[in-house]
Amino acid sequence: MSDQKLQKIGVLTSGGDAPGMNAAIRAVVRACIYYDITPYGIREGYEGLIQNDMYRMEAGSVKHIIHQGGTILKSTRCDGFRTKEGRQKAYDNLQKRGIEALVVIGGDGTFQGANIFGKEFDFPVLGIPGTIDNDISGTDFTIGFDTATNTVIEAVDQIRDTATSHNRLFFIEVMGRDSGYIAISSGIAAGAEEILIPEKDRGMDKLIQSLEQSSRRNKTSRLVIVAEGEKSGSIYELADNVKQKFGERYEIKVTVLGHIQRGGRPSCADRVLASRLGVAAVEALKGGKKRIMVGVQNHKVVHTNLEKATKQRNTIDEDLLKIADIVSI
Ligand code: F6P
Repeated sequence: MSDQKLQKIGVLTSGGDAPGMNAAIRAVVRACIYYDITPYGIREGYEGLIQNDMYRMEAGSVKHIIHQGGTILKSTRCDGFRTKEGRQKAYDNLQKRGIEALVVIGGDGTFQGANIFGKEFDFPVLGIPGTIDNDISGTDFTIGFDTATNTVIEAVDQIRDTATSHNRLFFIEVMGRDSGYIAISSGIAAGAEEILIPEKDRGMDKLIQSLEQSSRRNKTSRLVIVAEGEKSGSIYELADNVKQKFGERYEIKVTVLGHIQRGGRPSCADRVLASRLGVAAVEALKGGKKRIMVGVQNHKVVHTNLEKATKQRNTIDEDLLKIADIVSI
């Protein structure tokens, strides 16, 4: 595909923040400057497009941010962009400034908005997957997932100390509204005895069965990792049900890790991934690509249609479930 003479590219972060978003912004800005394109930062995601809250960025605008969590551009989940009126305002503001293409860093909801906008106005939009959930298809990893899972295992390792000291059974809730990726990965890495995820409704019976088994093996403490979107009920309901059966054997405790999973310094893997994808996004736009997402599969940068990236979810590898079962007996 022939190179287009792009003069101005806008960049924004949208949806839940993820560690490594700053590294991605930095890479987009620096790649623009490298290729003689003027980068524009858009504040608060799609809201900034609608409110015309954008500013010209320089190489120095992104200094000293590669190691910071969060996003210097800030982020929102913007209802206005769901309306035709809101998107029209966004388009008009981009036109006024002469911004000819957009890089959006975010997750599923962000890409849905980008795809509609790109189609409606035939506007070049490029997606970079930034979400701790790792639930976007077309990439092996999303920016933020590695850091979030490392934060989780650090917390779970600490909970294990108190669990073993007191014969306690801990239910630990991790993030993932619709996805069990954080749960399955951190559960395996932290040596959890049970992992409950929304994709596999293994239910209470399986949990009770497994608790009975380990009770027979005289296990004195237990860690159960529960994804936020788990379908058998809230973590408190799960804990109450188990208390009725095992309340004498174990003291039952609940810990909800919450937003600590979203913050913090990005890991090396997330910084490198973000840098690769930021540069790849600018290069794809220069090459005339539209409405695609850049991702990494088998260590190589790949392009996936935004439509596909939003329609298909990243599915949990069955092997991981089997491994979790085997190593937790
Ligand atoms: O999509 C990322 C995510 O962190 C989910 O795992 C979680 O369910 C959600 O965002 C929480 O969103 P908020 O910060 O708006 O409560």
